[in-house]
Amino acid sequence: MTTLVFYSEFDSYSEWSALLAPHLPGVTICCAEEVLDANDVHFALAWKPPHGFFAPYRNLKLLVNLGAGVDSLVGRDDLPDIPIIRLSDPDMARMMAGYVLFAVLRYARDIPAFERAQRERRWHYLHPRVPSSVRVGVMGLGELGAFAAQELARQGFAVRGWSRSQKTIAGIECSSGLASLDDFLSESDILVVMLPLTPSTSGLLSQQRLAQLPKGAAFINVSRGAIVDQAALTCALQLGDIAEATLDVFDREPLPPEDPLWRMENVLITPHLASVAIPASAALQVAENIQRAARGEAVSNQVFPERGY
Ligand SMILES: NC(=O)c1ccc[n+]([C@@H]2O[C@H](COP(=O)([O-])OP(=O)(O)OC[C@H]3O[C@@H](n4cnc5c(N)ncnc54)[C@H](OP(=O)(O)O)[C@@H]3O)[C@@H](O)[C@H]2O)c1
Repeated sequence: MTTLVFYSEFDSYSEWSALLAPHLPGVTICCAEEVLDANDVHFALAWKPPHGFFAPYRNLKLLVNLGAGVDSLVGRDDLPDIPIIRLSDPDMARMMAGYVLFAVLRYARDIPAFERAQRERRWHYLHPRVPSSVRVGVMGLGELGAFAAQELARQGFAVRGWSRSQKTIAGIECSSGLASLDDFLSESDILVVMLPLTPSTSGLLSQQRLAQLPKGAAFINVSRGAIVDQAALTCALQLGDIAEATLDVFDREPLPPEDPLWRMENVLITPHLASVAIPASAALQVAENIQRAARGEAVSNQVFPERGY
């Protein structure tokens, strides 16, 4: 008997099991409370399971993280020593790119200024800028970042990308490593943060680093709040050093009602939904990885806990 155990408070068990079952004949898919024999559990599909969740499953071969972000998983002290994979889902990347495009285009086309003018019934002509004159910096060129950067380049923006290792992506001026970060920031009229949260990226965008952005830059964060010094960001937005921000993620979520960001006209807040896992587009890739693990073969989209993503 081979069992796949499912755990998530956010994702639909019935949807995932219905999508996976046709690809996994011979595998029983069930929730933790339905497991008959813990020794039969060879695979786990989980999002933020409680501490100690994995302990009964001594024969686990593969853990599938039900999302792209793994920061809440890799730091745990109860992780089994088995391959861990994250979702790699083309529709999730497309949904994220859509959010990023919306936020970048909103700034590049001065929409916030028109929204303010409309509230005052004021005809406020600002001559449109050509996209190639707008420098967009994308921090993180992974599954989601590289896709969004390419979509931005297709719109004609001058796109720069920054990552840990050097990348070559057509139409994107790529740089890598901490030594190039200040230059990268100083050339980003619009900055899009798409890094994973790891020990190396936590607090990376400190007050000093935010100060490297051109005066009046726009700031978009769709990755994790803790990558940015939120107090320093708030202060820079109050002073106008950073002109506008679109924030989907925060150092505390939900963002507390008393947080000053809520009341700032130059800040657009969304509740951590820039992109979500889409089972219909991710299930096949998950099933293929489970089949590979069952055959003892290498899996794709592996997460490396020691590097944090
Ligand atoms: N808001 C939402 O709704 C939402 C939804 C899904 C995901 N997310 C967030 O988006 C993040 C990015 O997702 P992804 O799938 O694109 O991640 P990914 O495929 O793991 O790619 C991460 C990218 O960041 C770079 N990176 C990692 N550490 C770095 C460092 N210390 N310095 C410079 N670059 C570094 C990596 O560089 P290398 O290429 O050199 O490895 C890679 O390019 C996730 O981790 C998650 O937190 C948010």
